[in-house]
Amino acid sequence: MLRIAVLVSGGGTNLEAILKAVESGEIPDTEVVGVISNNKGAYALERAKNHGIDGFAISPKDFESRDDFHAALLDKLEELAPDLIVLAGCLIKIPDEMIRRYRRRIINIHPALIPAFSGPGFYGLHVHEAVLERGVKITGATVHFVDEVVDGGEIIAQKAVEVKEGDTPEKLQKRVMEEAEWVILPAVIGDIARGVIHIG
Ligand code: GRF
Repeated sequence: MLRIAVLVSGGGTNLEAILKAVESGEIPDTEVVGVISNNKGAYALERAKNHGIDGFAISPKDFESRDDFHAALLDKLEELAPDLIVLAGCLIKIPDEMIRRYRRRIINIHPALIPAFSGPGFYGLHVHEAVLERGVKITGATVHFVDEVVDGGEIIAQKAVEVKEGDTPEKLQKRVMEEAEWVILPAVIGDIARGVIHIG
């Protein structure tokens, strides 16, 4: 049984896609052992609750220092003992200590075709604003391993999405989520659960 912990910050649509895929069996032999959010108000925590999954709000605001926040996050992960950590709309910078402890066992979904439109500052709507600004005709999403370089880890899967005439950042974000993110993230986790993709 693959144990996964999901880190979130916002709406949790990628978390929802994962939970539905686990429940349907698209992702076999897998248990989501916990959802951790740095943002107490994240709707993703509501989604976890609706699916009967333990949710934990671990906010930097509740700690004296960043180091204390990182220690609390690592302690929670120690307690959950996941085989795989999934960053699904997670906006915190992952501490190097966590990357060391979970080398090649942390994956992230990025809403562009890395290396395009990636790296510091490229998150959420900013990505799609930059895509439209540059005028590219194809964008998409990427699942990659997380290492010390922001969005720089080994690429696992990508899926292309057409940019359409009249797209706004919001419309493009929705299409990238529906046609790419919610497809490749569950697919990669399923392949990890089946042993097709090796972690660690
Ligand atoms: C999505 O664009 C995702 O690619 C990025 O965070 C955004 C919010 O995702 N990582 P979610 O709805 O919270 O899953």
